[in-house]
Amino acid sequence: MKAGRAQGREGAEPAPGPAEVLASARNNFSGGWVEDTLVIKAVRGTRDLLPPESAVWNFVEGEVRDLFRAYNFQEIRTPIFEETQLFARSVGEETDIVGKEMYTWEDRTRREGELAQSLTLRPENTAGVVRAYIEHKLWERGLNKLYYIGPQFRRERPQKGRYRQFYQIGAEVIGPASAGSESAARDAEILELLSSLLDRLGIKAWNLELNSIGCPADRARYNDALREALAPLAAKLCADCQRRAIRNPLRVFDCKVPQDQPWIEQLPRISQYLDEPCRKHFEQVQELLSALGVPFALNDRLVRGLDYYTRTAFEFTHGALGAQNAILGGGRYDGLSELLGGPKAPGIGFAIGEDRLVLALNRPAAGAEGKPDVYLAPLGAGTDREAARLARELRSQGIVAELGDESFRLKKSFEIATKLGARYILIVGENEVQSGAFALKNLESGEQVTVPRSELPPRLRPIS
Ligand code: HAM
Repeated sequence: MKAGRAQGREGAEPAPGPAEVLASARNNFSGGWVEDTLVIKAVRGTRDLLPPESAVWNFVEGEVRDLFRAYNFQEIRTPIFEETQLFARSVGEETDIVGKEMYTWEDRTRREGELAQSLTLRPENTAGVVRAYIEHKLWERGLNKLYYIGPQFRRERPQKGRYRQFYQIGAEVIGPASAGSESAARDAEILELLSSLLDRLGIKAWNLELNSIGCPADRARYNDALREALAPLAAKLCADCQRRAIRNPLRVFDCKVPQDQPWIEQLPRISQYLDEPCRKHFEQVQELLSALGVPFALNDRLVRGLDYYTRTAFEFTHGALGAQNAILGGGRYDGLSELLGGPKAPGIGFAIGEDRLVLALNRPAAGAEGKPDVYLAPLGAGTDREAARLARELRSQGIVAELGDESFRLKKSFEIATKLGARYILIVGENEVQSGAFALKNLESGEQVTVPRSELPPRLRPIS
């Protein structure tokens, strides 16, 4: 698969049929055979989030949702695949994301005469949100404050903190200029929200790097200056930069090749090319941040790796993350709606790499979550039914109950209950069922009591 531009191609090579696709999958899979058993593993760059770590992710997402509520953001969920053109046009064809990293395929047609569509797994979510803004005429709602949590896909070289399926927590503030979407107050609100979020999660030692990359007119003048400065250097730079120098010189700043860095360091800076309104807007953002006590550092080399940005651009980095130290990034995209065929709708947003956020959190995945309040141990033939009824009763009252099996001996039930970390074990034997009073043992203290059925819920309810 490559980042295709084809969309609705007529007369193109027919896409392979299901049988061909399956045959190729049989021959090209990276798993193996262990003692006659076929072993299929997660695809490189993807991973399973298992308990108890999944509880940390749920904790983060819970905190984030509460915080978004406090800032009056609402959730949006867009599809995880979109037309390839959406990303090519918004993120930009010269960017690494579109040029090298997208999972793109030509969708098989289902009927004769139907045109094949080029589709792409979303590498980011801003483009999808702006598409939805236009498609659903969201400007009618005034200023939209939207957030999302979900997977994104980029075919990057996997390493710690960099995955091919990764998760973003993002937000976009977008609307007509008359609703205040262009104001520096929106930028400051977003940045203050982010600093509050990191503080709330206990993530310390973050740095906010801030820049303004101006409006399209500034960019045109800056690109001319870059082209001029790059012309004599081009032969010394990597092949990608030689191409970027001609087609989209700003993207030279995305270069990671160590030998190119001293040359890139000498290039003119965007800060020298901002016009008066952009300069003023940037000053207002900085003033507001200072008034709010949000620390930041100016970095006029920060241009971000996506083409849609205008004016404010920012990244939060974190020391403990190693090479992939950008915990989140974002900025303004005042022209994106128009670029996608919509009305003028200035906007600003960010996306946090949730995988990196969890890494920076360094939170032990322990805690009460995942442990049952009680383990019900059916004892003797025919007690499964009564135990299931009792478990249903307790669960309906908010008690976390794990259910054993009548085929287990009592010793085994105790072992399982202890391993699960249950607070209590409840014996459901024939005598107990008949008398309506159950043996309940506290697995921490060892204390055992007989409790009538009706008194079980208040006894078992977790102490909050
Ligand atoms: P981005 O800088 O491409 O911006 O990605 C945002 C964040 O996603 C990064 O700072 C990083 O934490 C995380 N991230 C990116 N790629 C990976 C990866 N392969 N593995 C793990 N984490 C990754 C955007 O995506 C923009 N849509 C942000 C935005 C929203 N701008 C305006 N609104």
